[in-house]
Amino acid sequence: MSDTRVLLFTGKGGVGKSTLCSASAVSAAELGMRTLVISTDPAHSVADVFGIDADGSGPLPVLDRLDVLQLDSRMLLERSWRSVQEYLLKVLDSAGVGNVAAEELTVLPGAEEVLALLEVRNYVRSGEYDLVALDCAPTAETLRLLSLPEALDWYMRKIWPVERRVVTALRAPLSKTTGVPMPGSEVLDAVERLHDDLAEVKAVLTAPQSTVRLVFTPDAVVLAEARRTLTSLSLFGYRVDAAIANRIFPAGSDDWRSGWAEAQAERLQQARQDMAPLPVLTAPYRASEPVGATELRELADQVYPEGDPLGIAEAEPPLKLERLGEQIVVVLRLPLAVKGDVDLAERNSELIVTVGGYRRVLALPSALLRHRVVGAGLADGMLRVRFLPRDLD
Ligand SMILES: Nc1ncnc2c1ncn2[C@@H]1O[C@H](COP(=O)(O)OP(=O)(O)OP(=O)(O)O)[C@@H](O)[C@H]1O
Ligand SMILES: [Mg+2]
Repeated sequence: MSDTRVLLFTGKGGVGKSTLCSASAVSAAELGMRTLVISTDPAHSVADVFGIDADGSGPLPVLDRLDVLQLDSRMLLERSWRSVQEYLLKVLDSAGVGNVAAEELTVLPGAEEVLALLEVRNYVRSGEYDLVALDCAPTAETLRLLSLPEALDWYMRKIWPVERRVVTALRAPLSKTTGVPMPGSEVLDAVERLHDDLAEVKAVLTAPQSTVRLVFTPDAVVLAEARRTLTSLSLFGYRVDAAIANRIFPAGSDDWRSGWAEAQAERLQQARQDMAPLPVLTAPYRASEPVGATELRELADQVYPEGDPLGIAEAEPPLKLERLGEQIVVVLRLPLAVKGDVDLAERNSELIVTVGGYRRVLALPSALLRHRVVGAGLADGMLRVRFLPRDLD
């Protein structure tokens, strides 16, 4: 695995993801890191932030050691993906395994998002860059995107082996008699390739050198979403190493300004308290849109007081195993989750954790195969599920 650092910037629409992603990249490049900014935003906003005209054909140098890649998904789109996706849903439906599986597959996103992930993987693997900074889409899409590798993995482990065998043996007869749509071998191969690719994506994005920065503005609605996102990201195994509160009003003399400054200070304090121990960095509301290298560097200097966008203490891994006498405890970090929102089920060596609208199917490590769940609890943002060996019953 390469040593490339990966930073993902996410947050609600319009909070400043593209701006802070670009600012962090400028600062990293100036510290000597070969840096690539990848953007999947069709509005080309990263190109606008740097005041360039990116055409989506490849990384474009904008400063010393800093390239920008604007992904043009329509240009890259591999036709096969949409047909594979449609096919999977059809099969699950008609094969009667639909109920559980279709539910899991609802998280399958579109081709653009898959392509973005594969590009990130390619550039991280290539070793050409020390830092890949990804300007993500607004939160909901990012979460969909980040849950994809695991959703497909679940499908491949549970359903695919059977299906591939059946399909290969019975292609013609089955299709005629049952109406289950039969894929051609090119679809079968494409699905398997995609699965392997996404397994690599997942490995890259959940590696210790990949972290997420959660951008928000200190407004009630935005903050509420940021808190939910923080929980969901941990649920899927991503490490969030900082939140950035953007567009903080400088204190001012008139009533209008001091009113805002006070309200923001209150929300910011709330955010710090809620998100602790996550560092909450701040970015001031600048007098003009931060566009171009000079402005972005100044902004980065204000966000990262130590002057280093990567010098943030190592993020805790979201999932750990602990031993407690005879018991093994699976500890899943779920910051800000509340009891009523969390649902837990055990099924055939899998632990299914649902928080709000998001669900994760955790394949249990082999150490836990002959164990059963004896208890679970949620405290201080940690979900602890206790397992006991079956022969101790
Ligand atoms: N700290 C700041 N001070 C002043 N203006 C800012 C600041 N941060 C962002 N902006 C401006 O706010 C607008 C939105 O920022 P940006 O495009 O970075 O948000 P985004 O989260 O990427 O939006 P989207 O969800 O649409 O991708 C831009 O015009 C940007 O220049
Ligand atoms: Mg943006």
